[in-house]
Amino acid sequence: MAAIRETWNSRTAFVLAAIGSAIGLGNIWRFPYVTYENGGGAFLVAYFICLFLAGIPLLMLEFSIGHKFQQAAPGSFKKISPKLEWFGWFAAGVGFIIVTYYAIIMAWSVNYTYEAATLGWVQEEGKYADVQYAITETDLEDMAVLLEVPDSLMGRSFVSPVSADPSIVCDDPEDTEGYGTILVAFGGHLYGFNSVDEANTFMGSPGDFFFNDFLGVTSSPWDMGEFKWPLFIGFTLAWIWIVASVWKGTKTVSKVVYFTVLIPWGLLLLFVIRGLTLSGAGVGIEFYLTPVWSKLMNARIWLAAISQVFFSLSVGFAIMIAYGSFLPKKTNIAANAMIIGVADALTAFFGGLAVFSALGHHASSLGVPVSQVVSSGPGLAFVAYPHIITTLPAARVFGVLFFLMLLTLAVDSAFSLLEAVTASVKDKWKTSHRKANLTVGGIAFLLGIPMLTGMGIHILDIADHFMNSFGLTLVVLGEVLIIGWGTGAEEQRQYINKNSSFNIGLWWNICIRWIIPMGIIWMIFSEIQQRAVPYGSFLLRSQEFVFGWLLIILLPIISDLLASARGTKELE
Ligand code: PHE
Repeated sequence: MAAIRETWNSRTAFVLAAIGSAIGLGNIWRFPYVTYENGGGAFLVAYFICLFLAGIPLLMLEFSIGHKFQQAAPGSFKKISPKLEWFGWFAAGVGFIIVTYYAIIMAWSVNYTYEAATLGWVQEEGKYADVQYAITETDLEDMAVLLEVPDSLMGRSFVSPVSADPSIVCDDPEDTEGYGTILVAFGGHLYGFNSVDEANTFMGSPGDFFFNDFLGVTSSPWDMGEFKWPLFIGFTLAWIWIVASVWKGTKTVSKVVYFTVLIPWGLLLLFVIRGLTLSGAGVGIEFYLTPVWSKLMNARIWLAAISQVFFSLSVGFAIMIAYGSFLPKKTNIAANAMIIGVADALTAFFGGLAVFSALGHHASSLGVPVSQVVSSGPGLAFVAYPHIITTLPAARVFGVLFFLMLLTLAVDSAFSLLEAVTASVKDKWKTSHRKANLTVGGIAFLLGIPMLTGMGIHILDIADHFMNSFGLTLVVLGEVLIIGWGTGAEEQRQYINKNSSFNIGLWWNICIRWIIPMGIIWMIFSEIQQRAVPYGSFLLRSQEFVFGWLLIILLPIISDLLASARGTKELE
């Protein structure tokens, strides 16, 4: 007799686990920025439309595939046709590559929790001072004298008026033209720069602590730089946490998610309240949400919305198929998918409130427009936000809580990726959960080690770019073609309806057969190279794409090898 498949402890446990996978760094450092960039409130409309027409239907599709075939992705597609097993491995492979670098970001967060407790990033007073605009007109009267300045002025910056009249200061940082150079006192001398960026680069901004001291970033992925041992400690801790969370599969996950979903929600609420009660918060929120309706007519915002929906819901990575396969016979696919999709969107919306209220406060205390301080990705989480927290009372407490929030948000995304691969291996080779978990986790751990060097963030960026633009889109396209056009959308819809508390209409077939494939094809064709890179901070040069292409080419080949490998037969 076939072994009975493990199941979730309860419906709540399943819903929380799927929400946990969906909510992650994307909700905090990607969604707010994408929203702001794409028309604020107008983007939210596009986002919700894409959520209901593409995101939630796909969740239903993935859950129902897993539920129907009682297998993770490779096994499920094998049951559809033995020729398709490789495709399931391809999906799991995309997830596997992602977890190798997701753990790196967790490692940064583990170490930054310590940096927050000790305010490590401001240790060297002045060195990491932010170069700001015109602080004062004094001291600028006589250039000769200014060539030597007292150490107390270290890190201060000034904008020198071109006119000889020192009382004319630049008060509009957007328009420094005509005001000559930006002067910065540093090491006893006054230096002149043409732009704030130039000055920041020279001086060492808070970003320098992160990129230079903490990561030791090199200039290209071909230059390895230093191995960061402190990061190795954070990395090991992160992996122990990830592996332990799925130690006994769904049994452990079912308990863990109550903490790893509810804690970050609680902390997020705290940061929203803290943010909204700061002076200047309103300015930030205005930036975040003021709708620019005309942008709805712009194709780019729809593209941004659909990619954000996919990324955020963790569809296209084999996760939701594996999670669906652990559902008990009697379940409620349609309602669960709705709850998960909406909960993820709300978390992202609140993430934006927390981020933009703080940015608004920061901008108004500097007297600059919000556009000057916005950032996303690591720049937001490891540079801007910590910097803002430092200026507030109880900085250490809020700093530690902020990184705890990032970690608890990220950990369930990481272990969901691991579990999707572990379950695939277990299905095929009938190994014990512990063995599969340790093997897959162990390989991912080893593959992550090169990313603890100075070239780490470059590799991370390239892998991330390729997995999220090509990997995800190809998997989703494959899914909707195989089901929507192959086995039949109608058949799948009836299956979902049989296992749901309410019926979904024919609209679902249209989404799966037409809307999603057209969206994806459009995504692939529309200048995919230039799409925002989630963790992006570096411009990718063409030779660096070689590495990314290699991943995309190797992945189907490896998937095919795995599919052809002989599995272990179930004892009948
Ligand atoms: N959905 C996660 C987020 O929003 C990201 C993620 C992508 C997680 C792929 C797992 C797999 O951050």
